[in-house]
Amino acid sequence: MGRLYNRNVLLGVTGGIAAYKSAQLVRDLQEAGATVRVVMTRGATEFITPLTLQALSGHPVHQELLDADAEAGMGHIELARWADLVLVAPATADCLSRLAQGRADDLLTTLCLATPAPLMVAPAMNQGMWNDPATAANIETLTTRGVHITGPAEGSQACGDVGPGRMQEPADIAAAAQALFAAGQLDGLQLTVTAGPTREPLDPVRYISNHSSGKMGFAIARAAAEAGALTTLISGPVALETPESVNRIEVSSALEMYDAALAQMGHCDIFVGCAAVADYRPVESQPQKIKKGQETMQLELVRNPDIIAAVAAHSQRPFTVGFAAETQDVLDYARSKMHKKGLDMIVANDVAREDGGFNSDRNAATILWPDGSLEVPLTTKGELARRLIDTIAGQRRQQAGKVA
Ligand code: C5P
Repeated sequence: MGRLYNRNVLLGVTGGIAAYKSAQLVRDLQEAGATVRVVMTRGATEFITPLTLQALSGHPVHQELLDADAEAGMGHIELARWADLVLVAPATADCLSRLAQGRADDLLTTLCLATPAPLMVAPAMNQGMWNDPATAANIETLTTRGVHITGPAEGSQACGDVGPGRMQEPADIAAAAQALFAAGQLDGLQLTVTAGPTREPLDPVRYISNHSSGKMGFAIARAAAEAGALTTLISGPVALETPESVNRIEVSSALEMYDAALAQMGHCDIFVGCAAVADYRPVESQPQKIKKGQETMQLELVRNPDIIAAVAAHSQRPFTVGFAAETQDVLDYARSKMHKKGLDMIVANDVAREDGGFNSDRNAATILWPDGSLEVPLTTKGELARRLIDTIAGQRRQQAGKVA
């Protein structure tokens, strides 16, 4: 399984002679597991046809910013969000300059500005242009902004010059893209994640539940499996596909989720509680459908066990990570929840904001641990999950270092 497995790569092709190598790059990225969509500038279409890249990528090539038909399909903001990586190869001197200025006057530069995904560029130009201080300044600006620069290589150039400026070979660019997605951080470890809502039955046809979509927990399961963990996903009822290489255990009520989670103890290294577990359940679930009669009815509820607190208190406790969905004083409440439940880490998110949370594909959060924190600005749940997995791996390494 390549490190780009399940990753969406948006390949930007700009107008340089190296554009002919972009065809091979599409192939190499796919070989590494990526789904590739291509965006071309007008200049690029002078060097290679959109049809070639469409045929190889299996998707229409995006070219214009103001194209009503294209926007009706996958609009530019959707495309920017779709990407897990935006890779510009070849990136001409002009493209680097426009990116450094933050221009947004064509589709590619707009996408580069709009995307929350990492941006990588593979410069390709004549050695004189590469050596020019203007290009050097642009590269420095882009580097300080966190843009990843791969290459250029040295050697003979299409114009007859010899020197630095050739685009790296497609296989090297694909390798650099793969290196961005650290795999293997959790190799050999077992991770369990709970996800989705629970349903607390009142009778055979009714239940108490909540709006949790399960998307965040499923994204964590996917990121954990990609990082090499043997991953078990204990999920309440949701309509989501099981991520590749993940073992899914389906449960319905909080008590079922509790039993499934505790059954993992002894062979679980990391536990992430992402489920929205119902705090209460009806004292009794009626064996037959409850008939309507009186104008009012009383339900007696009893507290459900706190699954994650039980996991954290277990004699064979794993590294335990919880979630705290709060609407006010988010960080304070989250920190006190982490201490109360005995967790190693907690992900605090503000569910009062309108642009993330329950049913959204996006989320912003602060990851807290006893002596540190990491703020993750609004991004896809997939990216947040990867950041969380990176942070868990880093903290476990630190803990192991302290013990050693
Ligand atoms: O106490 P609160 O529900 O706000 O805590 C949220 C965290 O605790 C989440 O990680 C959630 O999965 C977990 N939890 C649990 N069992 C419960 C309630 C919450 O594991 N009964």
